[in-house]
Amino acid sequence: MTLLHIDSSADTADDSVSRRLTGLFANTWRSRNPTGRYVHHDLCADPVPALGPAYTALGRRVEREGPVPPDKVSALIETAAEEREWALTLPLIAELRAAHTVLLGVPMYNFAVPASLKAWIDRVTFPGAYTDPDTGESLLRDTRVVVVMARGGGYGPGTPRESYDFQTPYLRAYFGELGVRETHFVAAELTLAGLLPQLAHLEPLSADSLARARTEVTALAGLSGPAESEPPRAPRRLDGCSG
Ligand SMILES: Cc1cc2nc3c(=O)[nH]c(=O)nc-3n(C[C@H](O)[C@H](O)[C@H](O)COP(=O)(O)O)c2cc1C
Repeated sequence: MTLLHIDSSADTADDSVSRRLTGLFANTWRSRNPTGRYVHHDLCADPVPALGPAYTALGRRVEREGPVPPDKVSALIETAAEEREWALTLPLIAELRAAHTVLLGVPMYNFAVPASLKAWIDRVTFPGAYTDPDTGESLLRDTRVVVVMARGGGYGPGTPRESYDFQTPYLRAYFGELGVRETHFVAAELTLAGLLPQLAHLEPLSADSLARARTEVTALAGLSGPAESEPPRAPRRLDGCSG
């Protein structure tokens, strides 16, 4: 069993709700899976570089060739810049392919995911990287994704700002397109209630939300294996192209 744990809050664990929740998940998971492999990325301390033109040029060449598994991509590299881009990308792809559970800590920044997480997503989503070349099925169909979100305000069903939550639909669409069948979302809401006077009356709701998130995270960390509720899907390119 392998847990890939990725944090993207700009704050340290002392101040970050999402980091404390993902830490709770990781500690629980590790105590239940003492022989499991645990990989942690802190995208704030160790950011994934933004894409350069050599990345996209290599990606286009790979797309033209048809489905190319990652171990065959180096044969298509033409420049030193492409070599560097691929050296930054391949280890991240290998980690995601090897993970049984992917745990994401996702603070809400301006209604969406942090740029540090988006940089990881853009780099790791390389053409053909998650498609079984023999069957065309997604290699991530049995991967479980747990998204742990923290947001200063409230965006739950029926709240005035429900439609401002661009984290949940985005990540649901993204992992769905990659062929992941089991994605869980946990949210700690109103994390700024103790800080902002205008939200002070919502402190009890904030405490309830955090307590619920802790319970959900602990329960999810104790589970393993994919749900069988949805049929497998082949991953598709997010721009609508095939491959
Ligand atoms: C750059 C930035 C942008 C933010 N944007 C929003 C926002 O759009 N909506 C919101 O409810 N909270 C927003 N917040 C508050 C955070 O979502 C909140 O502090 C959350 O707890 C951050 O996660 P963390 O505690 O894991 O760092 C923002 C905070 C920062 C630093």
